[in-house]
Amino acid sequence: MRVNLEKITKSFKKVEVLEEINLDIKDGEFVAFLGPSGCGKTTTLLIIAGIYKATSGLIKFDDTVVNKLVPKDRNIGMVFQSYALYSHMNVYQNLTFALMLQKKSKAEMDKAAKITSEMMGIGHLLDRKVGMLSGGQQQRVALGRALIKKPGLLLFDEPLSNLDARLRIHMRSEIKKIQHDLGTTSIYVTHDQIEAMSMADRIAVMNEGVMEAYDTPSNIHDKPKTLFVATFVGNPPMNVMDVTLQKENGKMFMKLAEGLSIEVPPSRTPRVIPERVKMGIRPQDLEIGKKQGLPFKVYTIEPTGRDDVIICENNGSMFTSLATPGHDIKEGENVKVSFNMDKVQFFDADSKKSILWN
Ligand SMILES: Nc1ncnc2c1ncn2[C@@H]1O[C@H](COP(=O)(O)OP(=O)(O)O)[C@@H](O)[C@H]1O
Ligand SMILES: [Mg+2]
Repeated sequence: MRVNLEKITKSFKKVEVLEEINLDIKDGEFVAFLGPSGCGKTTTLLIIAGIYKATSGLIKFDDTVVNKLVPKDRNIGMVFQSYALYSHMNVYQNLTFALMLQKKSKAEMDKAAKITSEMMGIGHLLDRKVGMLSGGQQQRVALGRALIKKPGLLLFDEPLSNLDARLRIHMRSEIKKIQHDLGTTSIYVTHDQIEAMSMADRIAVMNEGVMEAYDTPSNIHDKPKTLFVATFVGNPPMNVMDVTLQKENGKMFMKLAEGLSIEVPPSRTPRVIPERVKMGIRPQDLEIGKKQGLPFKVYTIEPTGRDDVIICENNGSMFTSLATPGHDIKEGENVKVSFNMDKVQFFDADSKKSILWN
C-alpha cells in the first residue's frame, strides 16, 4: 500500500502542532519518523491511523482519500509502546481477537494463530496467559496481533522503549526482517536515531511540527538539509562553529580564527555565501595532533570501548573528536585539531539551512 500525506496540518484548540506535512511512502517501504519528544511524530501517526482528525490536508492510501474512514476500515495494524494486550487472556485469544470480531471460523483462527505465532517465535506459548509473559514475549504478541490481520500498513509507535538494551537491539533486527519478508508498508515512530538509521529505508526527521528532511539514512547523515538534522543525527553529535568564508585568487577559504584559514575543496564550496555561516564537522572527521590546526586544550577523555571520545575546549567552545585507544593524548594537554575538509558542512546561520544541499 502506498501512503500520501498532502499538506497535513493539526492544531489542538489554537495551538498548531503540525505544519504542512507532505510525505510519500512507496509500497513496501519502511519509513521512520525521527525527532525529539513533542515534535509531532505520534500526532502524525494517529492522523494516518484515523484516531486523530487532521485540521487540514489529505491522507491517501494508494489513490483513495481516507480522511473520512474510521480506523477499523483503514486496513492497518498498530503496535504501541504500551502493548495494550488483554492480560487475563492467553496468547491465542490475544492474537485472534480481531479475527473473532470478524466472525472467522475456529479453523481459520487456528491456522492464522499457528502461522503468526511461529513467525514471532511464540508458537509454544499459545496457552500462556499474557500477564505471565516477559516484556519481550509480550512485545511479540503485540506485533503478532497487528500482523495476523494481514494489514496493508503497519504503524509502530516507539514499540521497543520498554525493553532492555540487549533485547531492543535483537527485536530491532527481528522487526526489520519480518517487515522485509512480508513486504508490508510500515511507519515506525522513534526518538532513537540509531533505531531509525538501522531499520528504515527512508527517515522523516521532524522538529517542532516541521518535517525538516525526508531521505535515506545515508543522505540524512552525509547531506543534512538543515542544522537541526545535522546535529540530531550522529553520535557523538556534529561539532558546530561560526566561521567566515572568503574567496581569494579564485579559491575559497574558511577562516576559523585570526591567522587560521583552511582551503575549502571545490566539492564543499557553496555557490552562494550568506552573511553569516556556521560550519559543521563530525567528531570522526577531526584529527587531534600536535603540529597544525586549531589550538585546543583537552578537557576530558571518555573511553567507550571502541573509540575514546576526546572533548577539547577553546575559549569556552567545546569540540568533540574520536581517537583509537592507544593514542598518546592526555587530559589537560594543548593540542591542534585538524579538519577533514572533504566532510565539512556549511549552513546559513540565520535560516539554519544547509548551503551545500539545498
Ligand atoms: N490530545 C492532545 N491535546 C493537546 N495537545 C496534544 C495532544 N496530543 C499531542 N499534543 C501536543 O502536540 C505536540 C506533539 O505531540 P506528539 O505528537 O505526541 O509528539 P511526539 O510523539 O513527537 O513526542 C506536543 O506539544 C503535545 O503536547
Ligand atoms: Mg510520541
